[in-house]
Amino acid sequence: MKSNISFILDNRVVYIDFEQERKLTPTTTVLNYLRQLPNHKGVKEGCAEGDCGACTVVIGELENNRIRYRAVDSCLIFLPMLDGKLLVTVENLKSPEGKLHPVQEAMIEQFGSQCGFCTPGIIMSMFDLYKNYVCPSRSEIEDVLSGNLCRCTGYRPIVDAALKACSYWGYDHFTEEEGKLVELLKSINKESLIIKTQLQTYFKPSSLSEALEFRNKHPNSIILCGATDVALKVTKAHELLQEIIDLSAIEELKFIEENIHEIKIGAGVVINDVRKKIIKDFPALYEMLNVFASNQIRNFATLGGNLGTASPIGDSLPVLMAYEASVELQSIEGRRVVPLNEYFVGYRKTLRKDNELITKIIIPKQNNGAVIKSYKVSKRKDLDISTLSAGFKLESRNNIVQNIILAYGGMAERPKRASETEKFLRGKSWTREVVEKAMDILQQDFTPISDVRGSAEFRRIAARNLILKFWNDTKLVD
Ligand SMILES: Cc1cc2nc3c(=O)[nH]c(=O)nc-3n(C[C@H](O)[C@H](O)[C@H](O)COP(=O)(O)OP(=O)(O)OC[C@H]3O[C@@H](n4cnc5c(N)ncnc54)[C@H](O)[C@@H]3O)c2cc1C
Ligand code: FES
Ligand code: FES
Repeated sequence: MKSNISFILDNRVVYIDFEQERKLTPTTTVLNYLRQLPNHKGVKEGCAEGDCGACTVVIGELENNRIRYRAVDSCLIFLPMLDGKLLVTVENLKSPEGKLHPVQEAMIEQFGSQCGFCTPGIIMSMFDLYKNYVCPSRSEIEDVLSGNLCRCTGYRPIVDAALKACSYWGYDHFTEEEGKLVELLKSINKESLIIKTQLQTYFKPSSLSEALEFRNKHPNSIILCGATDVALKVTKAHELLQEIIDLSAIEELKFIEENIHEIKIGAGVVINDVRKKIIKDFPALYEMLNVFASNQIRNFATLGGNLGTASPIGDSLPVLMAYEASVELQSIEGRRVVPLNEYFVGYRKTLRKDNELITKIIIPKQNNGAVIKSYKVSKRKDLDISTLSAGFKLESRNNIVQNIILAYGGMAERPKRASETEKFLRGKSWTREVVEKAMDILQQDFTPISDVRGSAEFRRIAARNLILKFWNDTKLVD
């Protein structure tokens, strides 16, 4: 067990011993760390909550002896999350000879920057694009840039710059230096980390058994995995997190296994990796994850974390309920599997006991001709929290409803199925006339509230109309 962190920055290993440091704590964000260094001021703070992308940096991790580069919002990452990784900032993009990186050159040539506040963050997202896509399409570029706001240049020249730059097959000075960087990364000790300062304990185990032991002894510790939700407690609510257990280094939580019946996704798999694996068999989940936050957030946020929030507007929850997914919980006493439909019991309350962790999500494959759709209602397509969302499943024979699931987010204190409406529809014809009656019955299932995202009235109307939309998307065509 080690007590200090090591990561690579500027081609060398940086050590931080929090017991010796006076300015840094285990919950100092990577953004705040970089801003206090003399030569890394390119990174900017806009919102400190993952919404603007001005703080974007790239993190490199060893994967099969290669380095995988991912853009992240540095305002949402705590320093210990960097342990064993490579941190790349906009200052690192120039070649050792001082030549600008192809993404920087393209940005200049296409006049992609005016005031320049957003530019370093956009350049870092473009660097992620450059390293991970060959000749990306316009929609892939828009997807990767979805977490970067620019308020004065306008996006056309920025997208043009990305189109121009990303035709070099990812080749740059990082490719030339990869062998050296891989050796540096390998030189870092990967054992479990425990940081104890006067005010905080930060535990980052490398195995599930250590995590379960710790959780059993410290049932009130704050669990985090991607920290895209937990970090806001620090950056926005200014809370002192006294005891933290960080699950992000546990390889046992990062698997995806599939057979003909189901897919099992480890709780620590990040949303962008889930997305890649579910395109074919789980299109409704795929559609939902395409409008989930931004590229930077999806690169760190996990599926387990989305369930862990138990938020009534967690986007994956209604659609996972429509797939009749289950969640596996584990503690030192053993493991159990709970259907998601029974898992949420109140506002941010679930059946998970204090000493349990979410370890996997199990989603059955649909073999009976069932149709599943997902819908997200928000003020804009990208990087917006849902006002309401839905996951619907229809099984019908000869246009008679055999089974139907209508799961909603944002309509109650928890993700919830419209059980009265479902009951009414079972056994009935799947016709517009019947669906319009069902829309009236939906009033009995929910009493939504008004908040900043939408009024109760708006939610009621939108929820009704989503059933009609579902019927329209699934009706038999003459
Ligand atoms: C700008 C922004 C935009 C966002 N947009 C969306 C969006 O469009 N849709 C959406 O649904 N969410 C969104 N979120 C919320 C957040 O990104 C997601 O909920 C994400 O999936 C959380 O995953 P994480 O790994 O980062 O969780 P963390 O922040 O690490 O943890 C979240 C919660 O889950 C618990 N937890 C995590 N892992 C486990 C585990 N294995 N076992 C038990 N408990 C666990 C933690 O204790 C914590 O309470 C957004 C957040 C931000 C900042
Ligand atoms: S400062 Fe806005 S996303 Fe980090
Ligand atoms: S160049 Fe000014 S905000 Fe983008």
